Amino acid sequence: MPVTFFGLLNPVLTSLMAYVARHEKLTSAQVRDRILEEAERNHKEWYSNQVPNLNYCHAACRLAYLYIVAAANANTLKWILTKNKGLRDYLLEVAKRKRRLKVCAFGAGPGTELMAFAKFLEEQKIGFPVRVDFHLLDIVQEWQESWYAIRDAIDDHFDHHYGPDTAMRPMIPNGCFTTQDVTDTEGLRNRGDIWTQDLFVVNFLLSEIFADNRGFHAFIAAIAERPPVGSRFVFIERSGTMWADRMKSCTAKTGIRLGEFVASRRSLDDGELPELLGNVYQRLSSVPDRGKCPRLNWNVVYSVGVKEA
Ligand SMILES: C[S@@+](CC[C@H](N)C(=O)[O-])C[C@H]1O[C@@H](n2cnc3c(N)ncnc32)[C@H](O)[C@@H]1O
Repeated sequence: MPVTFFGLLNPVLTSLMAYVARHEKLTSAQVRDRILEEAERNHKEWYSNQVPNLNYCHAACRLAYLYIVAAANANTLKWILTKNKGLRDYLLEVAKRKRRLKVCAFGAGPGTELMAFAKFLEEQKIGFPVRVDFHLLDIVQEWQESWYAIRDAIDDHFDHHYGPDTAMRPMIPNGCFTTQDVTDTEGLRNRGDIWTQDLFVVNFLLSEIFADNRGFHAFIAAIAERPPVGSRFVFIERSGTMWADRMKSCTAKTGIRLGEFVASRRSLDDGELPELLGNVYQRLSSVPDRGKCPRLNWNVVYSVGVKEA
């Protein structure tokens, strides 16, 4: 059985929901109800046409994100890594030459970028394991819980399908989580030189910063000075010219040359069935009038930038 996003999320959600019940002394029905309430609230905030006020510091809110959105966002990035020929060729060339990829992802706490790379590298069948070193910057430290849980689910999946010898696996995931507000350039002072990355990913972060934020422009400009020439930057956002314009404005005064803006509207890969979430899906989707299903499609605009000399 190949990697599926819902298959990876099943043990993650199952164990994190049990953890919340145990440590917050809630029944499993109370945990379910909190997740459904947070899912409702997240949706309203994302479409409120202002900076969304999200409860990511609360476990139920993060679980709602993982349940509703994570598979769709992971599939979007995996599709772009696969279908954007320039990006795919670049990543495969680096991966084959170094047997390692360095990925810095902004606002990547949940772990969706990690899932995307696990499925991408398994599908590419390179023939040896690629160590993927993720450097994650997210303002919400609590996200590290799901990032590490997803990493463990990937390791368990590969252990089960390729055996305990890591030399037989498509990917060896590695991650370092840094709590960082990406609108605060001052915060970079303490970070040192951690920017020799092959790829930077900005996936559904602009719509949470929401405003055309000068602090974020300064942050991107400061980051863009640091990595090697040729490193890539992928921006992905909701469809619409407003978000394409935000990508342009935040990179305008940087050494990043953005490529074309590509609209992508699709359903998840064949085989990505929410039923793979097992009991989690049963519990969250079947409550009369309030039950929710995970997102099964995407509608985005993306652009791949290159760091120039
Ligand atoms: C919509 S989620 C996207 C997560 C992931 N990239 C994905 O595509 O599923 C936005 C993420 O950005 C983080 N975030 C929001 N504002 C931020 C900021 N100012 N600095 C750093 N991270 C931020 C949130 O904590 C959250 O993890």
